[in-house]
Amino acid sequence: MSRIAYAPFRSRVMSAEDAAALIAPGANVGTSGFTGAGYPKAVPKALAARIKAAHARGEEFRIGLWTGASTAPDLDGALAEADAIGLRLPYQSDPVCRQRINAGRMDYVDIHLSHVAQYAWFGFLGKLDVAVIEVAAVLPDGRLLPATSIGNNKTWLDLADKVILEVNARQSVALEGMHDVYYGTRLPPHRMPVPILTPTDRIGEPYLRVDPDKVAAVVETDAPDRENVFSPPDDTSKRIAAHILDFFAHEVKAGRLPENLLPLQSGVGNIANAVLAGLLDGPFDGLTAYTEVLQDGMLDLLEAGRLSFASATALSLSRAATERFERDLDFYRSRILLRPEEISNHPEVVRRLGIIAMNGLIEADIYGNVNSTHINGTAIMNGIGGSGDFARNGFLSIFMTPSTRKDGRISCIVPMASHVDHTEHDVQVIVTEQGLADLRGLPPKKRARRIIETCAHPAFRPQLEDYFERALRLSPGLHTPHLMNEALAPLRPVDLAAE
Ligand code: COA
Repeated sequence: MSRIAYAPFRSRVMSAEDAAALIAPGANVGTSGFTGAGYPKAVPKALAARIKAAHARGEEFRIGLWTGASTAPDLDGALAEADAIGLRLPYQSDPVCRQRINAGRMDYVDIHLSHVAQYAWFGFLGKLDVAVIEVAAVLPDGRLLPATSIGNNKTWLDLADKVILEVNARQSVALEGMHDVYYGTRLPPHRMPVPILTPTDRIGEPYLRVDPDKVAAVVETDAPDRENVFSPPDDTSKRIAAHILDFFAHEVKAGRLPENLLPLQSGVGNIANAVLAGLLDGPFDGLTAYTEVLQDGMLDLLEAGRLSFASATALSLSRAATERFERDLDFYRSRILLRPEEISNHPEVVRRLGIIAMNGLIEADIYGNVNSTHINGTAIMNGIGGSGDFARNGFLSIFMTPSTRKDGRISCIVPMASHVDHTEHDVQVIVTEQGLADLRGLPPKKRARRIIETCAHPAFRPQLEDYFERALRLSPGLHTPHLMNEALAPLRPVDLAAE
């Protein structure tokens, strides 16, 4: 049976190639998609082929690409590979995109995810020409059943001149009821409080609205979301998770956290998954999550009854977890809500709920400044994503990393961060497999000692201690001692096997 129950849209069904032909050179295109979920599967590939052909004829053709966050090879990868993207925003994690950005062939604007929708509404990003949005179905009255992510879909549908819908038969219609699309956002000076008091609060509608007159094309697809692969937690991740769990227990004992903690935000990746796995075996019950992405570990916690509710903007699951999720959708429907990212990451809500924010980092310096985005201060890795939304506004802001990378050759604790995404003011806890540094209330020099002693790998500790002691001697009394002529020099590689 057709998923397009709104009769006027049926005559607008066309091939992905015909729909892609509606996108003009230079257009700004807003697509659905957040961490490999709910992104359009067909039109971007058709557009990439069209642009490639145009380039082969010597024609200039690039688009501005605005998404929810990272997408998948069928979208980011295909368009980047065709050199089809002039400028992209926000968060990406695609290897081809990364290569194009770092080769100077694509511009990238890396902004906090909570800012994206409002910047578009404020007019800071220019005009949005086309929205390409994947949905699970079109209702008889023309409203849209969202797919596995919401991201910026509401904003793109509202702002774009023209809309292309991809109706994906592979997305489960049983997702109905799992979304909460908030239409109450106003622009300053007419803003009102966002009325979320607990992660379970519903404040919007289960469907997306679209002006039917703007819908220029409907493309039917039948393709799965990107599969997310998680490796089982390794020893390093398990040790990081154990330190965090001990810290939570300590905070509960000290009366600073309730026994069921506070709503959790967890970044993506294997360390985050290990922390979730640790919570599965830990002593905490009645947990909640108010986060961006639900990955496999969150489903495990829900299933085990450890987690009672999870609010997010997207799913990011392995194939096995997707199957489990679809099989037990009735169970999950009463325990999961997907919201627009301007709400899942809203600073006001993050502050009110008292989120425990846990995110990864590339390097942290001895004073607690964190680099989440740049290798050697210059090459982009992914982007800031939502880490700043949660770190700045959360109840607790935790950053986690292995103490070394590249087989132990590189220390993730450095004298001075080569790029700073989260300043010392937004970083309360740094944790590596070596230990957890609680930086709350500490002045810079005490922070430095604690980070070096607790988080740095023992093989790199002498170099860091030497740096810090010399900085102290040469700048007596200064608030944040540094040796500016050598602060950014890489630490000498050490041979871990010989240690
Ligand atoms: N020096 C050199 N390379 C480093 C490094 C360092 N200090 N730290 C990490 N890397 C490299 C890794 O070796 C790896 O390289 P490879 O792909 O060649 O193997 C790469 O960076 C990514 O490492 P990975 O193990 O995949 O990282 P992760 O899953 O632990 O993620 C971040 C770490 C920082 C990249 C990731 O958390 C991120 O993108 N954060 C920013 C956005 C964010 O926090 N989002 C969550 C909010 S929802």
